[in-house]
Amino acid sequence: MHYRELGRTGWRVSDISFGAWAIGGSWGAVNDRESLAALHKAIDCGVNFIDTADVYGMGRSERLIAQLKRERKEEIVVATKAGRRLSPHTASGYNEVNLTGFVEDSLRNLSTDSLDLVQLHCPPTDVYFHPEVFDAFDRLTKAGKIRHYGVSVERVEEALKAIEYPNVQSVQIIFNCFRLRPADLFFEQARRKRVGILARVPLASGLLSGRLTRDSTFAADDHRQFNRHGQAFDVGETFSGVDYDTGLAAVEEFRRLVPEGVTLSQFALRWILMFDAVTCAIPGGKRPSQVMENCAASDLPPLTDAAMEAVRRIYDERIRATVHQRW
Ligand SMILES: NC(=O)c1ccc[n+]([C@@H]2O[C@H](COP(=O)([O-])OP(=O)(O)OC[C@H]3O[C@@H](n4cnc5c(N)ncnc54)[C@H](OP(=O)(O)O)[C@@H]3O)[C@@H](O)[C@H]2O)c1
Repeated sequence: MHYRELGRTGWRVSDISFGAWAIGGSWGAVNDRESLAALHKAIDCGVNFIDTADVYGMGRSERLIAQLKRERKEEIVVATKAGRRLSPHTASGYNEVNLTGFVEDSLRNLSTDSLDLVQLHCPPTDVYFHPEVFDAFDRLTKAGKIRHYGVSVERVEEALKAIEYPNVQSVQIIFNCFRLRPADLFFEQARRKRVGILARVPLASGLLSGRLTRDSTFAADDHRQFNRHGQAFDVGETFSGVDYDTGLAAVEEFRRLVPEGVTLSQFALRWILMFDAVTCAIPGGKRPSQVMENCAASDLPPLTDAAMEAVRRIYDERIRATVHQRW
């Protein structure tokens, strides 16, 4: 496992880290025993950074991580998120009273006195134009309730706006072989300001593992079933917003680029790590076997220039038209 600096926090985090959405819910049935085994496997493999949110199973994901921390002595940095419990989910809901309440709840779920990193959880765009939201996070930092804060964004332009606030340490954004625009516009700016980048949905919800087919079925409570067309939240969070059949066709082309002995998931993760501006990829995993496979991507040799160019060509030919200008 290799490690990279996260913003100006002083933390060095595993370049393959752990996304803890699926172990909370919204991905079909999960079993806490297996989820905990997956978390332990991640730590065994050298992972020291976990991304979660208060809404992932309404505290279930955070509580599993608290349990993991009780069972391990390694230092583990936990990033959580706030805002998505607002109903209705409006910009005005992102005020100091509500944010403080969300932070207090996460402190309880994570059994800690201070949250390592709190991220705004894909708020309405308008929130980035309200400096008082960031002032509220500054006060929570001074009060010792949080150590650092960052944002999780839907769009590149939100990321560019967010890093105008000097204490934003990290930006979480969808970046994978189906989402190239962040690298064109945003990475250089983030690097210049020493803001960490967490590449989320790195496997396009599993599409880029190459294990899904036209016949794959998903449970009714799996967002790959219930949010296929953005019925519950931004459609970009499900298969990266790529039409399922279009994605499968692109995957068949990616498959030809994968070196012997490497899986497509590992190739897709190693592709992300080719970008120095990225701090880490945070693949979701429900089973220890997936976690082990994903972590091994950290130790793969760099991809060739030819492979990098081929990914861009496939993106340009198959994906760009329906994705590039949307996020
Ligand atoms: N708004 C936000 O801030 C936001 C939104 C989305 C995600 N996130 C964060 O980003 C993390 C990662 O994104 P994600 O979980 O949505 O998507 P992802 O990492 O692209 O895909 C994860 C899913 O792919 C499958 N998978 C993982 N490893 C695999 C392997 N080696 N082989 C085959 N299949 C594999 C698993 O599902 P199956 O086994 O069921 O196929 C897994 O749940 C989340 O956990 C969360 O922490 C944040």
